[in-house]
Amino acid sequence: MIDLSTVETAIQGTQPDYHFPPYVSSIARSPRLPLVLLPETLTERTGPVFGHGLIREHDNDLTAQHDGDPIGERIFVHGRVLDEDGRPLRGALVEVWQANAAGRYRHKVDQHDAPLDPNFSGAGRLLTGDDGRYRFKSIKPGPYPWKNHHNAWRPAHIHFSLFGAGILSRLVTQMYFPGDPLQPLDPIFNSIPDEAARMRLVSRLDMQRAEPDYALAYEFDIVLRGRGDTLFEEKHR
Ligand SMILES: [Fe+2]
Repeated sequence: MIDLSTVETAIQGTQPDYHFPPYVSSIARSPRLPLVLLPETLTERTGPVFGHGLIREHDNDLTAQHDGDPIGERIFVHGRVLDEDGRPLRGALVEVWQANAAGRYRHKVDQHDAPLDPNFSGAGRLLTGDDGRYRFKSIKPGPYPWKNHHNAWRPAHIHFSLFGAGILSRLVTQMYFPGDPLQPLDPIFNSIPDEAARMRLVSRLDMQRAEPDYALAYEFDIVLRGRGDTLFEEKHR
């Protein structure tokens, strides 16, 4: 029998408050009324589901979606999607999106004065294998300025979205890179009170999976629920 009070204590500080004023957007986005729990029936738990058939050949290779190579440092990102008991979550849909090497998103609301890369869209997706593993190839995203406060810059990061068995189980987080000096200055990163939980969002340089003379690799495991869980955010840029 699990002692829920123990679990509650253990995960305290691992999730940010919805209302975190240093992250200015959270002021307007955070709920003002208590959340309403909707009843979950078999329908919500089992479907509708995303379309597995929509995964295309180069969806897990963000460097191969155009005619030429994108500018930037090639990287592999890999890891496991696990449940709280360490069991692999197979067939989970992992979607990623990111800025290009110059810190610019290919999106109409991104007006940062940095070049777009004609060979980089910045979005990919894949399904985890039977062992819960995922892997994709990309280029390392650059930091970018945002309007949160004076001289605000986001540390380099990749956005992740995960779907489990049902469409209601979507979880969203961000992966960071080790040694980035912008992390201590970032309100989104620092909205997580617990340092160990924050550091679980920082990937690990993985020289075992790096390919000599070609690309470095970063490892980022994602744990769904429980004491070792990855921070999940409700909404973010
Ligand atoms: Fe971002």
